[in-house]
Amino acid sequence: MFLALIFLIFFNFFGLPGVDGATCITKSTCAWTDFTLPLCISGTCKCFNSSFVPIRSGCGLQMTHRPVVSAQQGKTNQVISGQSFELSCYFDKYNDYYTFEWYLGETKLSTRSNTYTAVADENTVGSFTCRVRTSARLLTSPLSYFFEVVKLGGASGQATSNERPTIYVPTNSAVGGSTVILECNNIPMGYTDTIIYTVNGVNTTYSSVVITSANAGKYVTCTLTSPSAGVTYSRPTSAVGNLPRLTTSISSVSVVVGIGTSQRLVCALTPSAIYLQSSPITYTWKANRIHVHTLDNMMIAKHT
Ligand SMILES: *[C@@H]1O[C@H](CO)[C@@H](O)[C@H](O)[C@H]1NC(C)=O
Ligand SMILES: *[C@@H]1O[C@H](CO)[C@@H](O)[C@H](O)[C@H]1NC(C)=O
Repeated sequence: MFLALIFLIFFNFFGLPGVDGATCITKSTCAWTDFTLPLCISGTCKCFNSSFVPIRSGCGLQMTHRPVVSAQQGKTNQVISGQSFELSCYFDKYNDYYTFEWYLGETKLSTRSNTYTAVADENTVGSFTCRVRTSARLLTSPLSYFFEVVKLGGASGQATSNERPTIYVPTNSAVGGSTVILECNNIPMGYTDTIIYTVNGVNTTYSSVVITSANAGKYVTCTLTSPSAGVTYSRPTSAVGNLPRLTTSISSVSVVVGIGTSQRLVCALTPSAIYLQSSPITYTWKANRIHVHTLDNMMIAKHT
């Protein structure tokens, strides 16, 4: 009883910051459990101490690791006015089933998944944060750091971008006749206008390049053109990248453990198999010097 009184005084004066969760009207709605106190402050049941946070059913332990909000792969934190964009809330700790919570400024969004999609206007951009809850163990993560989404163009958008695109060439070497797909990265989300690739001095809008002795090792750049929303790019052209050099053989082979399962072994080649297309590849696997009957680039390790 005495202890309860102490808590009552303590939490009335130093109530935890408002977190939506176990809602209450009076303290009788808040069950007194190991982590939840029979206290109702501003419509939320209060928790034992700051290691716990209100959740729907009471209070759960707070996780210490923060999730991270990020833009689509290869994109900046900018979005072209009127175009759709997608953010991800990434969290790699713990293996429970997660529920995601998203906030735009102080406003909680209705999205429950790890991605958030919207069409960019003045009401849908700003500072995003996310949080993760696990169902089974009732854990809650702290909020992520802010991720600011900036609108380019349109009525209230920024008219000039100072971001510079980058060019990504997916391999350093390739057999003549193979195709590489160039990627122009660090561009705004929702960019749908033309990208010009300058490949060995020639302008093209195609991102795929067939490697020949004439272009192997030569320079490539990508350039953004001023898009529909009226945005200008102060640095529209990427720094130069190099097309892969020609190779006629596999320069290295290694066995790597497959992603997701330790039992799947993969035979990794340099350059990777898709840049060796003109020469058929045969895989031979041995386990303890004994041939394994698979002709695939992958094998499942069996414990005997
Ligand atoms: C909260 O209470 C738990 C359980 O008694 C304790 O382990 C933890 O250290 C406390 N956390 C804080 C911040 O006081
Ligand atoms: C190729 O594209 C770049 C970037 O837009 C431009 O500056 C250059 O003049 C173009 N060159 C030719 C030959 O069209």
